[in-house]
Amino acid sequence: MSAPLRVLGIESSCDETGVALVELPEGMDGLAPPRLLAQALHSQIDMHQAYGGVVPELASRDHIRRAVPLLRETLAGAGLGLEAVDVVAYTRGPGLAGALLVGTGMACALGMALDRPVLGVHHLEGHLLSPFLSADPPEFPFVALLVSGGHTQLMQVDGVGRYTMLGETIDDAAGEAFDKTAKMLGLGYPGGPALAGLAEQGDDAAFKLPRPLMRGDLLDFSFAGLKTAMWTQLNKLDATAPNAAQARADLAASTQAAIVDVLVAKSLLALKQTGLKRMVVAGGVGANRRLRVQLDAQCGRRGVRVHYPELHLCTDNGAMIALAGAMRLQSGQGVATRDYAFDVKPRWDLSAV
Ligand code: KG4
Ligand code: ZN
Repeated sequence: MSAPLRVLGIESSCDETGVALVELPEGMDGLAPPRLLAQALHSQIDMHQAYGGVVPELASRDHIRRAVPLLRETLAGAGLGLEAVDVVAYTRGPGLAGALLVGTGMACALGMALDRPVLGVHHLEGHLLSPFLSADPPEFPFVALLVSGGHTQLMQVDGVGRYTMLGETIDDAAGEAFDKTAKMLGLGYPGGPALAGLAEQGDDAAFKLPRPLMRGDLLDFSFAGLKTAMWTQLNKLDATAPNAAQARADLAASTQAAIVDVLVAKSLLALKQTGLKRMVVAGGVGANRRLRVQLDAQCGRRGVRVHYPELHLCTDNGAMIALAGAMRLQSGQGVATRDYAFDVKPRWDLSAV
């Protein structure tokens, strides 16, 4: 048995600074998924809330402030020192360029100072593999529904680094649809949890909203039309009417229902087209309760197992980056390097990794 391999992960692509340490228990030849030793996270949500969205320059500056304390917290949580780190993995993209540079710069500086190799990780691969840290990890192959703030993709996943794109959004991402419609309703940022919260009190059948691209066997998504339709309905509401608050909740519920219906229908279609019986849902929107309930019900009827990341690992975090780095090394699909001259990839296609 080879010695355990410990991978430090650093995430700073958007509005969360995350640091985590995972361990491959049996070294790089082991088949068991990596184990999370410790992680620390700081969300910038409170800071950006006043602006109604992420302010890139503020995000970068805050990552700089948080990164080292979070690293210390992670090591303390694991009861280990810096010398215990074997490889430093970091989010190389996609994301905000300035924000990515903070985590990347820190990872490469650490690698150089410790004489340890570094490995750039694709942020979406982190989301995609994050259910491997759950108590009920999936097995390859599976269909993955990746639903984050900037991406909505269906993929066939045959193994680490073996991803085939089945469909993706042609305009807004599902998370963006949540965020933008929540903003129209005057709800806070990020909109997903806020809209989902208001929807709890509403009637999801009160408003007829479109389910774009639902017909046919196309696996692509489109959410821009839904946003416009929702805006039209919102403008018809009378804010002074006695039932105004209920109407807003109804509109939130109807909007969430439309987004979830499309995500569930396309997921079922992808399962049908690939013949696969396993599914993984990852990314921030994967935390949505309605999506989970509906997908579990529909997939259960078809004998399909659905795997989710632990709720706290649905949104951005360092654990998924450490994990993706470790799984890349474990599967021989990634090479950590002692070349510390770094760059970042704000735009980066997962199938090009
Ligand atoms: O994956 P993520 O943390 O960041 C990106 O990589 O983009 O996803 C953030 C997105 C935001 O659009 C947020 O509104 C959405 O995930 N989100 C949710 C929920 N929690 C987060 N959307 C719907 N329901 C939720 N409970
Ligand atoms: Zn993300």
